[in-house]
Amino acid sequence: MKYVDVRGAVGLAHLFLRERVALGDRVVDATCGNGHDTLFLARLVGSLGKVWAFDVQEEALAKARALIGDAGCLPWVNLLQSGHERLAAHVDAPVQAVVFNLGYLPGSDKSRITRPETTLAALKQAEELLFPGGVIVVAVYTGHPGGGEEGIAVERWAASLPPQSFNVWCSRQINRPATVPYVIFAEKLAPGAQGM
Ligand SMILES: C[S@@+](CC[C@H](N)C(=O)[O-])C[C@H]1O[C@@H](n2cnc3c(N)ncnc32)[C@H](O)[C@@H]1O
Repeated sequence: MKYVDVRGAVGLAHLFLRERVALGDRVVDATCGNGHDTLFLARLVGSLGKVWAFDVQEEALAKARALIGDAGCLPWVNLLQSGHERLAAHVDAPVQAVVFNLGYLPGSDKSRITRPETTLAALKQAEELLFPGGVIVVAVYTGHPGGGEEGIAVERWAASLPPQSFNVWCSRQINRPATVPYVIFAEKLAPGAQGM
């Protein structure tokens, strides 16, 4: 039996995305970093799909380009050196998923963190860009300076989404310290969809 435990926020986010993203889908990685999540998404959507990946750090994008290139997935990945607050300027079509892995890139400049104003701007654009049935998945980190405020801002945004239009979940590991990363999922409802 293949078994991988769901240890962290990224593991849980990936588990959910495996369920919701299929071959041929268009998706966004709003925080590309070194490209691990982007590569994960690129493999899910395959060569008939498309991934837009945003980051503000050139060095991170260079590493992502090498990682994704080595895996042979670059032809359907658009790596953008741009803040995700410009999401709608680059992504013009409805997408199945928009994924955020907030905070700073481990091993790099810890001052290059995601910030509430730009994260919220991107989340609001993501709401509009989603197909019905599409998902926004946010891994939230609160252990660094500024992370707590960003977490509160993201939770407020998520809690304000109308239940007629979105199912919204917040998932925390309650047997670990309160500062461990957690995940917020927002699923845009398709008209006439049946609940599980
Ligand atoms: C936790 S890291 C992402 C890790 C990445 N998903 C991976 O697999 O390696 C957060 C990233 O967000 C980026 N970032 C910060 N502000 C941003 C913004 N406004 N738009 C896009 N990316 C941003 C940082 O440069 C950093 O690389």
